[in-house]
Amino acid sequence: MKTKFIYALLLMSVILFTGFSSKNDIGNLHPKYLRCENLIDPLGIDVITPRLSWYSESLQRAQRQTAYKILVASSIEKLNLDKGDLWDSKKISSDQSINIIYTGKKLTSGEQCFWKVKVWDNKGNESEWGKPAKWSMGLLSKMDWGDATWIGLNKATGSDKPDSELTKLSARMLSKQFVTNKKIKRATAYICGLGQFELYFNGQKTGDQVLAPSLSEYPKRSFYMTFDVTKELIDGKNAIGVILGNGRFFAMRHTIPTGMKTYGFPQMIFKLNIEYTDNTTQSIVSDTTWKITVNGPITANNEYDGEVYDARQEIPSWNKPGFDASKWMRVEQVTNPSAKLSAQMIEPIKIMQTLEPKSVKEIRQGVYVYDMGQNMVGWASLKVLAKRGTKIQIRFAETLKPDGGIYTTNLRSATQTDTYITKGGGLEQWEPRFAYHGFRYVELTGYPGKPDLNTIKGKVIYDDIKTTGSFSCSNDIINKIYNAAYWGIRGNYRSIPTDCPQRDERQGWLGDRSMNSYGESFIFDNDKLYTKWMTDISDAQKASGSLPDVAPAYWTIESDNMTWPSSLIIIPDHLYSQFGNLKVIADNYDAMKKWLFYMRDTYMKNYLLPKDQYGDWCMPPENLEVIHSSDPKRITPGDFIGSAYFYYCLNLMGKYAQLLNKNEDTKEFATLADKVKEAINNTYLQKDSLYYANNTVTANALALSFGIPSKEIRSRVFDNLVNVITHVYNNHTSTGLIGGQWIMRTLTDNGRHDLALKIAENTTYPSWGYMIENGATTIWELWNGNTAAPDMNSGNHVMLLGDLMVWYYEDLAGIKSNPANPAFKNIIMKPYPVGNLKFVKANYLSTYGPIKSEWHLNSAQFNWDISIPANTTATIYIPAEKEGDVTESGKQASKTEGVKFVKIEDGRAIYEIGSGSYHFVAKNEKINVN
Ligand code: BGC
Repeated sequence: MKTKFIYALLLMSVILFTGFSSKNDIGNLHPKYLRCENLIDPLGIDVITPRLSWYSESLQRAQRQTAYKILVASSIEKLNLDKGDLWDSKKISSDQSINIIYTGKKLTSGEQCFWKVKVWDNKGNESEWGKPAKWSMGLLSKMDWGDATWIGLNKATGSDKPDSELTKLSARMLSKQFVTNKKIKRATAYICGLGQFELYFNGQKTGDQVLAPSLSEYPKRSFYMTFDVTKELIDGKNAIGVILGNGRFFAMRHTIPTGMKTYGFPQMIFKLNIEYTDNTTQSIVSDTTWKITVNGPITANNEYDGEVYDARQEIPSWNKPGFDASKWMRVEQVTNPSAKLSAQMIEPIKIMQTLEPKSVKEIRQGVYVYDMGQNMVGWASLKVLAKRGTKIQIRFAETLKPDGGIYTTNLRSATQTDTYITKGGGLEQWEPRFAYHGFRYVELTGYPGKPDLNTIKGKVIYDDIKTTGSFSCSNDIINKIYNAAYWGIRGNYRSIPTDCPQRDERQGWLGDRSMNSYGESFIFDNDKLYTKWMTDISDAQKASGSLPDVAPAYWTIESDNMTWPSSLIIIPDHLYSQFGNLKVIADNYDAMKKWLFYMRDTYMKNYLLPKDQYGDWCMPPENLEVIHSSDPKRITPGDFIGSAYFYYCLNLMGKYAQLLNKNEDTKEFATLADKVKEAINNTYLQKDSLYYANNTVTANALALSFGIPSKEIRSRVFDNLVNVITHVYNNHTSTGLIGGQWIMRTLTDNGRHDLALKIAENTTYPSWGYMIENGATTIWELWNGNTAAPDMNSGNHVMLLGDLMVWYYEDLAGIKSNPANPAFKNIIMKPYPVGNLKFVKANYLSTYGPIKSEWHLNSAQFNWDISIPANTTATIYIPAEKEGDVTESGKQASKTEGVKFVKIEDGRAIYEIGSGSYHFVAKNEKINVN
């Protein structure tokens, strides 16, 4: 006893000592935030050569990693003894700390891998080992699923209405009992339940994910999830319960608003691997010994229409040991729905926040309307004390009617209604499992007595991805737009980026997110989500090479246009430049090339690609009541848009071919691109006035962004663009989904950041500020969303953000990854103190670590606080006329540690800096703060 105490004290002093030691945190780089496949401690991955990443923390200036050593072990004990029995990378001289490919022993199904890393820096220091991390392998081949088969109930029963337009199925509940009789070392459950599942062991839900698993292109692929359930199992009798909901597998509709595919009735595949301490194993699999019922409490579930839960039909202890399921039906063995079962390697959806309602009003007798104060995505949890059989209805909407009631017309056929029927006998708490809604307002009817602000809570759901950015500035409207973007973006992350969360769509429309994904990547760690979506798009490709307009292709819409599918080529470029993700390019290269050549072979005429469907979708119309403009002067011709995007895609493919060393392809893309550019200039350039197509802002912005005009005429084309913004649109936004992706940066790159700011801070129609002034808390689908027809008028569509978020971070804050040195290995920091902006503060957690840029103006003075992570460099542009005007922490900048003066150019003092925190002050008479 005594010796133990002394030992513990000794240990404590060691911990205290190292905690205190400057060697650990200050002197050395310290590897932190270890990730495998960019996930923290993932379970059940199916990449056999995973990529490992970390970032190092350091408070020193200009610190760089010069070498690293990785150990991967099959047990934590071995790792603690510094034994890398799976992989010992040895000391590798390299400054690479992201996406290092595992090259150790071949990894096998179910294997656990524990790893750690240490680094050396440019100052001769060797770090201590970083905190250990881990991952485990999933089931790598079909054989590993053993005798597990897909099970379910291949028919409608009871109150199911599979054929009605608003489809309705009750949830399926499955049960299995089994016995363990030895000491368990490890138990791992693998499950794919379609459309959605909840898994229970011995009465407890496994994991905190909701609406699982990730959506997928079912005929090609379904995703399974892996859970460590060692602690959930008990000695002796055990029970497994699974509830299956429809999700998208059993479609919500058949024909409205368009043809929708149903893949089958809910079904699942499951395997539990138990390893005992005596090294024996046992498996429990999904097979025909399982029991199923459709008579549980969830009598209907449908993602558009909500869930009906009759608590009187709850089946007590159904998922607990000893439950007698003999009256349940035997499950049916059903067909395998997918060519491939893949590991889900993105974060699942979770309840990420809970909102308290701001107010509640009784608008008519018994009809209560709650205001959540924010347009959100998720559902309401309900608390109720009522007699058995009380039916409470909860409806959801984004806006109100003038009489205070909820406005549901813009939801189209989606009824967004949850129903709860009480069982009685005490306080009941409930929330749905298999439905979600887009809403700010909640209508409650049938509630006994008077509900108050505690009766419901808003559960905010989205993919559990890290918020990586924060932004604020001295302009309130710009901040409110940011907040609306933040809520809209995350609300539409549902394992695919959806167009909207409320009406009868909620699809992965390809066009909506091409540049948006880039802007979003500053705010959320969306690398894995978009990588996964690229897989969905490639999976949805037809044998011909054609791509659909929505992916997964739950809708049968294929217009073979040039712009929407181009996201398959455009988005990986962002994932590469923001996250250094070259794998997504390599993995999808064949699909991209196949699609682009399919378009070429099918539609190219005289080197133009005049195949378009949606034009500059939702550009601001001349009339506040209409959805689309009918003014030919405002409508950018689709044939021009198609050809310009064809050219842009060819250039991107050329870049990818080069990155992947595909030399023949590089040449082929470049040769064709030259011809396409020539054809565009011959056909669409107005030779006297020097504008493109019909001189819309979008036409000229695309030409300039894609490098179509020759150097000599660029400024004239730009003048035309400015002229239209100023004289036709009175310095307001003039673009839709297409032009909006380029406009803010086109203006800034060509010296008119002042005009970009004007557009961003406007509050009159059309502008983002107009949406905010008219009550928007998320971005609207239409610039005139408050007055246009409800047919296509969502209050939560992020597509019109275009490149606004990119502009916030790159140009207002000055945090940009150098495309030549991706993933922020070299950061270009060129903020624009413009207009009346007095300060901008932004933080961004890059893959190399946190970046900060905060500037504020005093009279004739630019003050700038910067931090950049270890192992990166930044090229910074300070508004100053001469080097002598710039100080860093009180000393002349060029003489301080870690700062190298490069040159003065265009009113900026340019420096190269290494890692660390800096405080710059520049005298600048042009800065005039009032
Ligand atoms: C969707 C959009 C989509 C568009 C294309 C709309 O109904 O909501 O986001 O891109 O259709 O037609």
